[in-house]
Amino acid sequence: MIKNRILSGVQPTGNLHLGNYLGAIKNFVKLQRDYECYFMLADLHSITVFQDPKQLRENIIETAAVFLACGLDPKKNVIFCQSSVTGHSELAWIFNCVARIGWLNRMTQFKEKAGSNKEKASVGLYSYPTLMAADILLYKATHVPVGEDQKQHLELCRDIAMKFNNDFNCKDFFTLPEPIITKEVARIMSLKDGTKKMSKSDEAEASRINLTDSADDIVQKIKKAKTDNDLIPDTEFKLVDRPEARNLINIFSILNGSTIEKTLKELSGKNFSELKNKLSDVLIKEIVPIGKKIKEFKKDTEAIKRILKIGSEKANIESQKTIKEVHKIIGLSLS
Ligand code: AMP
Ligand code: TRP
Repeated sequence: MIKNRILSGVQPTGNLHLGNYLGAIKNFVKLQRDYECYFMLADLHSITVFQDPKQLRENIIETAAVFLACGLDPKKNVIFCQSSVTGHSELAWIFNCVARIGWLNRMTQFKEKAGSNKEKASVGLYSYPTLMAADILLYKATHVPVGEDQKQHLELCRDIAMKFNNDFNCKDFFTLPEPIITKEVARIMSLKDGTKKMSKSDEAEASRINLTDSADDIVQKIKKAKTDNDLIPDTEFKLVDRPEARNLINIFSILNGSTIEKTLKELSGKNFSELKNKLSDVLIKEIVPIGKKIKEFKKDTEAIKRILKIGSEKANIESQKTIKEVHKIIGLSLS
């Protein structure tokens, strides 16, 4: 019986930012101490929207370098590329036959990403959550650390696991995974619009802090970050209608290992330029060293490829156990 196994993934689509770091990767680093962990570059998910092949190769190396630079230990964890473990697409197909169209029709990420022209979206973008369910259930992961935006996909994963266990009369075969979503870090918002999440795909560079930004980039982006003309308030409640102000205070609090409440106690009555100076300082302290390490790791692409190869060998062995069991359960294996 597997106890406390984690699986999570990040799409190798470039521009990894503060939201990915605080919402996901920094958490992975903490969790690696207490869990058996599988950390995956979700390259099959990334091709649900067109990726330039050369760019994709570079982004895979870059994202692996980010994992390592942030402190994920390849000796302790299984770090691998989704596409190099065939079980992911195999199980995803089977789950396409378990999940219902009505379930997928409710997915808000598809609606957002497909936009107004759904007819032109790829079939992969639509069935994206069944592949994600396969990623998780293939390893019978018990916990999945993600940002808030992935919560609905995790619920769908649990629905698939339940329906499979039920349809094939194999109670408890698939573990129902629990999300690990830390409230404060779950949604880091854009620096330009506090109602939108910080995103890789936002055309405005100044909307996000990239993990490879220089100290100067950080200072400039924080200086230009949207705020309002009011002073810093004394209670969190007064931030309800001030999303940009709330976001900056939240980021500052997280990086200081503090809470919004404590930060407000310290800074209430001051104006935002003061907070921005302090915020730039803590960001530089946390992000710039990571950026330097990313550059260092990227210099040795062969070492990164070796790490991914070792990871995919381990992941293949583990995942094939589930594939074999599934084939048996559903009647595909004749022996
Ligand atoms: P993605 O870049 O979409 O592959 O996301 C990788 C991880 O980062 C997932 O766990 C996301 O939920 C998380 N994430 C992405 N953007 C944000 C954000 N703005 N705030 C918090 N977490 C995020
Ligand atoms: N869909 C996730 C995202 O965009 C990435 C991902 C793919 C993932 N497979 C996963 C996350 C499995 C957690 C578990 O953020």
